[in-house]
Amino acid sequence: MKVEKVAIIGMGYVGLTNSVAFAKYGFESICTTTTQSKAENLNKGIPPFYEPGLEELVKEMVGKGLLAGSIDNVDAVRKSDISFICVGTPSLQDGSTDLSAVNESAKDIGLALKESDKYHVVVAKSTIPPGTTENVILPIVEEYSGRKVGVDFGLCMNPEFLRQGSAVYDSFYPDRIVIGEHDDKSGEVLENVYKDYECSKIRCDIKTAELIKYASNSLLATKISFANEFSRICEKFNIDVYEVMKGVGLDFRINPRFLAAGVGFGGSCFPKDVNAIVSLANKMGVETPLLDSVLYTNEIQPLHFVNLIKNVVGTLEGKTIAFLGLSFKPNTDDIRETRALPIIRKLFEEGARIKAYDPKAIKNFKKLTDLPIEYHKKWDEVLRDSDFAIIQSDWKEIKEIKPEDFKKLLKTSLIFDGRRTYEPISLISKGIKYFGIGWKNEYCARKQHLSCQSS
Ligand code: UGA
Repeated sequence: MKVEKVAIIGMGYVGLTNSVAFAKYGFESICTTTTQSKAENLNKGIPPFYEPGLEELVKEMVGKGLLAGSIDNVDAVRKSDISFICVGTPSLQDGSTDLSAVNESAKDIGLALKESDKYHVVVAKSTIPPGTTENVILPIVEEYSGRKVGVDFGLCMNPEFLRQGSAVYDSFYPDRIVIGEHDDKSGEVLENVYKDYECSKIRCDIKTAELIKYASNSLLATKISFANEFSRICEKFNIDVYEVMKGVGLDFRINPRFLAAGVGFGGSCFPKDVNAIVSLANKMGVETPLLDSVLYTNEIQPLHFVNLIKNVVGTLEGKTIAFLGLSFKPNTDDIRETRALPIIRKLFEEGARIKAYDPKAIKNFKKLTDLPIEYHKKWDEVLRDSDFAIIQSDWKEIKEIKPEDFKKLLKTSLIFDGRRTYEPISLISKGIKYFGIGWKNEYCARKQHLSCQSS
């Protein structure tokens, strides 16, 4: 079976960046959303969120007629040979997964297949607990279509590994493609869609594919919490955790990635997915002491950062703080689970005044909290006359601030770096009082003759 047209249900990071990649690889792609204005904007070449390189590609693909937005799932699926479910699967109160959007998508696919006698492959791409594709999606599609899996339609689970901030690049150049297949024919069709993607492809059963996603995110989150725990040990010994992790990461069995200590992991994936698999495992009677600790370490890391600041400056009462970076990481306007929130909350509790800068995320952050933060579109306005600066996400715009600007604008030349945005020595040698996660803070305090009160 030759695939020419693709329906992608969901216009979030996964849905839209994959739609653009499929379009670029020559497939006619229809990407759907429940929001009329998002579909209309997409058809004018405007994506609903910021992601480097996305707008240009959307414009190009819409212009070539290879990408279209729609709010009609049934119509999109009816016109296509294969459909991908890329809708959100947020956490419920108890940490389990909200599958309502997945269920709706499956129903619409079923309704579309009812009106057609073509073979069609249904692919789940959303992150869903093991068993969901076969026990939830499959029966819904069969019920609403009146057709039979493995005969009239195919079924696959194809987890997504892209990172926000580099989602476009990751969609074009994934490390690997995992194809969980109901049967050989389904897997063959999907593998063929990816024939021009140069990376390892593995085929397995559907439940395995579902769990590979949770296991991957859990292990990446574990690496981060591991580095963060060591950052606190390093601080006590006046050792640089980045030097330690460099030495650790050179072991090819470990690798250097995701060992960057900081104020913890945020975003819509790691916190949600680790919580979901913990909740699922616990419900099934499996204890998860390792993953429990990964989450606990992530909770305490922002508070540890505030304590580190207090150990240097003493009371925060009445201090004006320049807060740089609100998004959960650079190159995205996404603020979901950003570590900026627990840090800022704690700073307010301690009586500080916050002036905040972020290149893209201010609008979204304002929706997250009504704390009386003073937002600024320029970093120099935030630095000017503040007592000291805190860096929460290492945007290029923030990395490029010169030591002279910190010295000129801040009252104290004092910086607290939550993301190792700068090479500490390069700042210290220019007269900046630099403190950060996993850095030789006590050594610096002595070197800089810095008393607990900032000068
Ligand atoms: C993560 C995974 O990296 C993707 O492979 C996966 O597809 C995605 O979740 C998902 O499940 O959809 P993402 O959340 O976009 O991607 O961002 P990451 O680059 O993984 O960063 C997550 C958080 O970890 C950020 O807050 C980042 O600052 C933090 N982090 C990352 C660290 O604190 N240290 C590191 O070494 C790396």
